Amino acid sequence: MKSLTLLAISAVAAKASPTAEPIRPNHDSASANANRIFNAIHSAGRQWGSSLNHNGFGFIPVTLSAGALLYHGGYSKDPPEGLEWLAFEVEHAENFVRVPRHPPNPPKGPEHEGQPQAPSSPQKFLVQPETEAHRDRDSEGRIRGYLQTYQTTRDVQLLYIDGSGAAKSPIGTLDSQDHVLFPNSSWQWYNIQSEMQRATAMCDMITKWGWAGIMRMEIGFEVIWCDFKSDDLQHESSVRALIQEDRLKDDDFMSPYLWTRAVAERYDGLCGDRVKMDFSSMVSGFFFPINISHTDPERPDLIRLKAAKLKHRLDIRTYLQKVFEEPRRFNVNWQGIVDMIVTRFSKRLAAMASTNVSTDIFIGELEGAVLAYYEAPGLPDDVTLAEDEDNRNKTAEAIDRCATQYLKSSQSARKDWTLQDDLIHTALSDVMQHICNDLYVMRTVLLRAAPDTSTDAYFINKSIKSSDMEKAVNQSRAIVRSLVHELAWTTWRKPQLCAEDEILVTVMWPFGDTEDYYNPGCVSFHEITEQRRSYWRPYEKRPRDF
Ligand SMILES: *[C@@H]1O[C@H](CO)[C@@H](O)[C@H](O)[C@H]1NC(C)=O
Ligand SMILES: *[C@@H]1O[C@H](CO)[C@@H](O)[C@H](O)[C@H]1NC(C)=O
Ligand SMILES: *[C@@H]1O[C@H](CO)[C@@H](O)[C@H](O)[C@H]1NC(C)=O
Ligand SMILES: *[C@@H]1O[C@H](CO)[C@@H](O)[C@H](O)[C@H]1NC(C)=O
Ligand SMILES: *[C@@H]1O[C@H](CO)[C@@H](O)[C@H](O)[C@H]1NC(C)=O
Ligand SMILES: *[C@@H]1O[C@H](CO)[C@@H](O)[C@H](O)[C@H]1NC(C)=O
Repeated sequence: MKSLTLLAISAVAAKASPTAEPIRPNHDSASANANRIFNAIHSAGRQWGSSLNHNGFGFIPVTLSAGALLYHGGYSKDPPEGLEWLAFEVEHAENFVRVPRHPPNPPKGPEHEGQPQAPSSPQKFLVQPETEAHRDRDSEGRIRGYLQTYQTTRDVQLLYIDGSGAAKSPIGTLDSQDHVLFPNSSWQWYNIQSEMQRATAMCDMITKWGWAGIMRMEIGFEVIWCDFKSDDLQHESSVRALIQEDRLKDDDFMSPYLWTRAVAERYDGLCGDRVKMDFSSMVSGFFFPINISHTDPERPDLIRLKAAKLKHRLDIRTYLQKVFEEPRRFNVNWQGIVDMIVTRFSKRLAAMASTNVSTDIFIGELEGAVLAYYEAPGLPDDVTLAEDEDNRNKTAEAIDRCATQYLKSSQSARKDWTLQDDLIHTALSDVMQHICNDLYVMRTVLLRAAPDTSTDAYFINKSIKSSDMEKAVNQSRAIVRSLVHELAWTTWRKPQLCAEDEILVTVMWPFGDTEDYYNPGCVSFHEITEQRRSYWRPYEKRPRDF
C-alpha cells in the first residue's frame, strides 16, 4: 500500500516535470571523492601531481599577477593578433621559436576513441597551432623565429583547467574541455584544427566574463591568451633566433633535456607568486553525483569525466557558469591547508609502510603522531590537577584534535564560505578523519599486544618481542599500507633522496655536526641525537646552559 502511494507520487512528480532536476554539487559526492579532491587541491598549479593525475576534473578561476612575464615563440617580431599561446617558462616557448610549424597528420587507420593511435610524428603535437605561421610560410623571403616576451599590466583572470589539460591525448586529459565545457563538441584530440576550435570556444566563453585567457598544463604551464590586442598584456621584447641550419647539431640534442629540466623545477609550484587560485570558486566533477568510471579495461585507474551522462555534464556546465559569473572570493587558501597535512604525514606514513624500518621506528613514528593529541594520565600530586578523568574518552578526544587541527585555520572565514568552500572542507575533513582514526586504531592494536596492559597505558611497550607484538605490528603496517594506497598522495611517487629512516641534514642550531655544515647529507635516525652539536661548539670547554 505504502509503496503504491509512493509510486503514485513519483509518477505525478515525473508528469509535472518531464525533465529531471539538474544534478547539484553535494556533500555525499565530496565525501565519496574526498581523496581525489584532496589530491586535486594539492596538485593545482604544480607540474608533478598534475602530470600523474593527468585527467583533470576541476575548473578554478585564477588570478595572474600584474607584472608576470610570459613567453611566446613567434614567427614575427610583432605580436600576434587575436588568440595565441603563451608559456610560463622560456624553455617552453623556445620550442616554438625553433621548431618549424606544420599541422600534424591525423593518425592512420580507422579512428577509434580510447584506443590511442600513434600520430605519424608525436613531436609535432608539441607544436602550437598558429594561424600567422601559415600566412608567413606563403610570404616571400626567409621566416625567422623570435622569442617574444610579454608582461601583464594588471592582475587578470584566467580559467585554470586542472590536470594535464593541454595534453592532446585520447586517454582523458581533454574530457573536462571536450565533454564538460563543450559537451556536444566533436573535436578530436589529434587534430590541430580541433585544438584551435577548442581554444576559440573557450575564449568565447570566458571573455564574456571579462577574463583574459585559459591556463592549462602540458610539459610546462601555458596560457591561451584570448586577445593579444588587449591592454592587459604589454609586449616587452622580441629576440631574433638563429635559423635552424645555423644552429649547432647538439642544440637539438640538448633542447628537450633543457626544456624538461626547466619544467621539472615547477614540480612543486610555479614560483614567483605568478598565479593565485580562487579555491572558493573551484568547480569539480568530484562534487557531483556522476559516473566517473574508467572506459579502458586496460587502465582501470584512469577515471573519466566522459563516463558521466551527457545530461549530467550539461548540468555541471550550467552550474560552473553560474559560479564563475559571481565575484571572486579567495576565502580560504585550501592548498595551504593541504600542504600542512601532507608535510606532516607524508614521510611518516611512508616510513611506517616500509618493511625496511624496524618495529621500534614504527612504534616511535606512530607515538610521535598520536601522543601529541593524547592527554597523559593525571597523577595525584600534579601541580595542575587533572579534570574528571573517568568520564572522558581520551581516544575520541585525541582523534578529534588530530582531525580538526589543520582545518581550524579555515574557520575564521567561515561566515563567507561558498558552497565550494564547504564541499572542500567536507572532503579534507574526511581525509583527516581517516588518517587520525587509523593512527589510533593502530595504537590500540599495539597496546593490546602487550600482556597486562592497564586501561590507562600510555606508551606501547617496545621491549616486548612476543609473536603477538610482531603480529600487531604486521597488522598495523597493513593498515598503513591500505591508508597510503587510498590516500594516493603523489609525494609517494617521487623518488626520495634519503631512505625512509634517514633525513637530509644540515646544521640547525642547537643540532649539527661540523660535517653537516661542510657536507650535508642523509643521516640515519640513530645518528640524530642530542649529542650531534659539534659544529656549534668549536673553541673551548666552558660551562654552558645550551
Ligand atoms: C547539447 O545537446 C543537447 C542535446 O541535444 C542540448 O540539449 C544542449 O542544449 C546542447 N548543449 C550545448 C551547450 O550546446
Ligand atoms: C559508468 O560508465 C562506464 C564507462 O562508460 C560504463 O561502462 C558503466 O556502465 C557506467 N555505469 C553506470 C552505473 O552507468
Ligand atoms: C631497504 O634496505 C635495503 C638495505 O639497506 C636497501 O638496499 C633497499 O633499497 C631498501 N628498500 C627501500 C624500499 O628503501
Ligand atoms: C572511545 O572512542 C573511540 C574512538 O571513537 C572508540 O573506538 C572507543 O570505543 C571509545 N571508548 C569507549 C570506552 O567508549
Ligand atoms: C615492558 O615489557 C617488559 C617485558 O615484558 C617488562 O619487563 C616491562 O616491565 C614492561 N614495561 C612497562 C613499562 O610495562
Ligand atoms: C610479520 O611480517 C613479516 C614480514 O612480512 C613476516 O616474515 C612474519 O612472519 C610476520 N609475523 C607474524 C607473527 O605474522
